[in-house]
Amino acid sequence: MEEEKTIHNSIFNAKPISFHIHLNSILLFLSLSLLPFSYSALHKPPPLPILPLPSANQLHWQLTSMALFFHFGPNTFTDSEWGTGLAEPSVFNPTRLNTTQWVQVAKDAGFNRVILTAKHHDGFCLWPSEYTDYSVKSSSWRNGTGDVVKELALSAKEAGVDLGLYLSPWDRHEVSYGKTLEYNEFYMGQMTELLTRYGEIKEVWLDGAKGEGEKDMEYFFDTWFSLIHQLQPGAVIFSDAGPDTRWIGDEAGVAGSTCWSLFNRSTAKIGGTDPL
Ligand SMILES: *[C@@H]1O[C@H](CO)[C@@H](O)[C@H](O)[C@H]1NC(C)=O
Ligand SMILES: *[C@@H]1O[C@H](CO)[C@@H](O)[C@H](O)[C@H]1NC(C)=O
Ligand SMILES: *[C@@H]1O[C@H](CO)[C@@H](O)[C@H](O)[C@H]1NC(C)=O
Repeated sequence: MEEEKTIHNSIFNAKPISFHIHLNSILLFLSLSLLPFSYSALHKPPPLPILPLPSANQLHWQLTSMALFFHFGPNTFTDSEWGTGLAEPSVFNPTRLNTTQWVQVAKDAGFNRVILTAKHHDGFCLWPSEYTDYSVKSSSWRNGTGDVVKELALSAKEAGVDLGLYLSPWDRHEVSYGKTLEYNEFYMGQMTELLTRYGEIKEVWLDGAKGEGEKDMEYFFDTWFSLIHQLQPGAVIFSDAGPDTRWIGDEAGVAGSTCWSLFNRSTAKIGGTDPL
């Protein structure tokens, strides 16, 4: 709107000096031919947007449209969806790991974002976290010197593909799980490692899943959100209830017959994966 006003003003200001010089006559002609339009535009401002407006990061997320998820870890080797957290680190041994090939396949198939389960519910970290020994450093893979997150981050960067990371709140291995303050600190420590060591992270995934009868504890979601936005200002945060992105529909893959970007979060909750 400001810009539009400036243009109109300059057209009006041009009028008195537009008589003698040929170039200015052309300008005058242009100004006059624009006048009817300018008048109506002046009197009819564009409609106000319906709030809230998407952030730049949300728009970018929508434009990248397809993300490929890599659920990789001990579960790959034990053939389970949810690991128990009791699997020996030695089961993780991807001797021929090639993240360049992963990213190439993703890119060839039209994905421009890849997301890795840096830690799933079993608690095993695909990077050498300083907060636990339950990670690649206790595995036999590359004699404990490997780092899947690092390799994938490099491959994604080289290919110009965005990188997202998944850090499960539910942790079936970590002993502090269930002790609210201790575990929240632990989780934020791990999140900080992931968001400070591997360059630009475009999406952070907080999965609300938690098994029946699991220890009761509170997650400090708002504090986590602040930390993530502070460490990676270009990242969107995904959960069942935002704050930045969410399922199209629900985890069961069911979406409403219309499903627009605008979403009323007040009744949604993280971990609420029941069909809408
Ligand atoms: C990894 O995969 C890429 C892409 O398919 C390939 O060019 C490269 O040779 C592979 N590297 C190794 C070590 O196999
Ligand atoms: C792991 O360490 C052993 C013993 O030091 C060595 O023989 C082996 O080559 C190493 N393997 C790798 C993948 O680095
Ligand atoms: C969002 O949903 C809540 C609960 O159903 C309702 O009270 C509120 O008015 C809704 N907000 C908007 C902006 O529609």
